[in-house]
This record gives sequence, structure tokens and C-alpha cells, in this order.
Amino acid sequence: METVNRRHWFFIFIQCLQAGTLVDSSLLSSATHQLSITYMAGQEAILPCSWKSRLGEVALPTCHIQWVTPVDTVFEQWGEEKWQAPEFEGRVRVPEEKLGSGNCSLIISDVQIGDAGRYDSFMVVQGARSKRTRVFIQGVSLFVNDHKSYQSHRPGEDMVLQLHTRHSVRVVFQGRNSSEWSDVWMRGDNNSQRLEKHLLHEQLTLKRLKPSDEGIYKVLDEEGLSVSTVQLTVEERFTSHRVEERLEYVPTGVAAKRSSSALHTMLVLLLSFRALHFL
Ligand SMILES: *[C@@H]1O[C@H](CO)[C@@H](O)[C@H](O)[C@H]1NC(C)=O
Ligand SMILES: *[C@@H]1O[C@H](CO)[C@@H](O)[C@H](O)[C@H]1NC(C)=O
Ligand SMILES: *[C@@H]1O[C@H](CO)[C@@H](O)[C@H](O)[C@H]1NC(C)=O
Repeated sequence: METVNRRHWFFIFIQCLQAGTLVDSSLLSSATHQLSITYMAGQEAILPCSWKSRLGEVALPTCHIQWVTPVDTVFEQWGEEKWQAPEFEGRVRVPEEKLGSGNCSLIISDVQIGDAGRYDSFMVVQGARSKRTRVFIQGVSLFVNDHKSYQSHRPGEDMVLQLHTRHSVRVVFQGRNSSEWSDVWMRGDNNSQRLEKHLLHEQLTLKRLKPSDEGIYKVLDEEGLSVSTVQLTVEERFTSHRVEERLEYVPTGVAAKRSSSALHTMLVLLLSFRALHFL
């Protein structure tokens, strides 16, 4: 394994070395490149970068790539050395075999809502008199969207709730009639009779649904950001029961308005009654 790796690195080294002769300074000062890309939380995001298109055919003693955000260095690789920011540990890489041939794209696996933002890539090149120069290659704006879905089940059925990423740590629930959020699941919880976490997949199964399970489920990550929102309806379809249930499910806002207008009517009646009395 070790020798394979070494040989592999030697190959990359040679590729970077063979790439050419001189840094074209006109290319280095050309207008900034800016791209926008959008992914869903939990997907593998690829932040494009092509150093040959910026540097042309250049002599690079080693491929030295940096990916940075305005506040932090995310990833850096020079020769066999590698560095990853702690919050990206095990999630970022630039494939070595591609780097040598000019592809410096950063792969962020299991992309998080909190990863969204601006990323810039640089190649560090050896200039004249062994001066090192950082050459801007590519700016990328990364957008990460949360998941939104709607599920409808009959009572007694099971619901599968996708967690989307292993960084999802909590599920909260707001019942149809409620304004409160309550905890449904936390990572590390044991399976219960009604709630099961899949052994391998990032998904929960809520078993034998009841009408009281109806409402909104939110999957939250370690930072408390919403990874997914699922609106669940539990209803017996094609029965007269359905109509009754529908009538019961008056959204709280509407119900409040109704009772206040009833109160208003009462008040008006009461006042007019009094007015009559005084006449
Ligand atoms: C660069 O590599 C990434 C994966 O690492 C790939 O998705 C992308 O298509 C490659 N770009 C080019 C121009 O080959
Ligand atoms: C989960 O179950 C194990 C074994 O039954 C028990 O030791 C542990 O305390 C439980 N953990 C929680 C969070 O309930
Ligand atoms: C909502 O409230 C009504 C009346 O209080 C109740 O009959 C119904 O079962 C509740 N629905 C849910 C989903 O909890």
C-alpha cells in the first residue's frame, strides 16, 4: 500500500513538473472567476476548479492547492501533506489523481447547511528567485438547501423520516393543534416500540401512525439548523370519517379568530341590550 502511494505521488509530482515553463502574469491578473452552485443538505458537493485554465502550462514543483473561506482555510494539500479544517474533518478532499492533470475541484461530502458560503481556491506556485506566489484560481458561492416534503398516511401505517445526513442529531415535532415543539428523537436514543432508527441508513421509522402524530416534523443538525421539514397528514381516506376529522382540524389561528368574533357579537348584543334598558 505504502509503495503504491509513493509511486502514485511521484506520478503526480512528475505531472506538475511537466506542466510547462513559465507563469503567465497576464493570466494571473485577469478578472476574478465567480461561480454559484446549489446542493441539498447531505449531498456530495463539488466546487469546480481548474488550475490549468488559469495558469496555463506552468512549472509547478509540487501541486500545492488551497481552498479557503473568508474566515478560514478549509483544505490545503502540498505534496504528500494535507490539512483539513476541524469542522470539515473527513469531509473534504481534492482527488490527487485529478489534481496533477489540472482539476483542483474540492469535494465536500455530506454537505451541511452551515457549509454554505464563499470559497476561494489558490495554487501556490514557485516564482522567480524561489519566491512563492499564491495564485487565485476560482471563487465559488456554495448554497445548501434544506429538504421540504409532505407525507400523507392512513392510521396504522408507518412513516419513514429521512435524516439526510449523519450530522442530523435531533427531530422535533409540532402537533396539528399545538404551538409547542417537542422532542421526538435524539441521536443516541435507543429504539422504542414506535420509533426505530435504521441500523445503517440515516432514516427513522415511525410505526403505526395515529391521528395525533399529524403535524410538522423538523430534522435538526448539530448547530440546530433545519435539515428537513416534513408535514404529515394522517387520515382515513374514502370514508365519512374523513369529513368529521377535517372539521375538527381547524387551524388554531382560525379557531381563535372565530371565538373572538363570537365574543364580539356577544358584547354587541349585551351593549345594545343595556342601551335598550337605559332608554
Ligand atoms: C473534476 O473532478 C470532479 C470530481 O473530483 C469532477 O466531478 C469534474 O467533472 C472534474 N472536472 C473536469 C473539468 O474534468
Ligand atoms: C439503551 O439501552 C441500553 C441497553 O438496553 C441501556 O444500557 C442504555 O442505558 C439505553 N440508553 C438510553 C439512552 O436509554
Ligand atoms: C385537535 O383538537 C381536537 C379538539 O381538541 C381533537 O379532537 C383532535 O383529536 C386534535 N387533533 C390532533 C391531531 O391532535
